[in-house]
Amino acid sequence: MSKILILYYSRTGNTEKMAKAVAEGAKTIQGVEVDLSYNATPETMSNFDAIIFGVPTYHHDMTVGMRNLFEEVAVKDISLKGKIGAAFGSYGWSGEAPKLALEIMKNKFEMQLIEPPLLIKYTPDQAGLENCRALGKRVAERLIHTA
Ligand SMILES: Cc1cc2nc3c(=O)[nH]c(=O)nc-3n(C[C@H](O)[C@H](O)[C@H](O)COP(=O)(O)O)c2cc1C
Repeated sequence: MSKILILYYSRTGNTEKMAKAVAEGAKTIQGVEVDLSYNATPETMSNFDAIIFGVPTYHHDMTVGMRNLFEEVAVKDISLKGKIGAAFGSYGWSGEAPKLALEIMKNKFEMQLIEPPLLIKYTPDQAGLENCRALGKRVAERLIHTA
């Protein structure tokens, strides 16, 4: 069974709504196991075949917890090479965080990215949630086809 981790942070619940919809979409594809999580260690991340990061933008950046996790993966030299990766996040006006996450996933971790990142302004509406489901489905389909 191929495994997808959806790892997110959300302070006011917007990115969390997105994360739940991404998980719903991924679960529509048979043969994948989906884990929706608020916390992960670099070691657990290495047990998954695909990782989708949910990162809201605060102060033109990812949140400190997410940045520290990326830092820890690098320091511990945990290999995420070749895993499928994608990113999404709620934002208010500039929305840098998912792009920053993807940059590190691509250049440092050498993951295979599904781009562009999915950005939704503040609270996702029905159309936004549908885009989140589509992202989850796309990642799951890619995983099944490369497994
Ligand atoms: C203190 C603070 C700083 C913020 N900084 C930014 C920012 O630099 N760029 C941006 O696009 N949105 C910014 N926002 C807006 C948040 O990204 C937005 O409220 C988002 O929906 C939060 O997602 P969450 O509910 O998943 O935490 C900021 C919000 C707060 C409260």
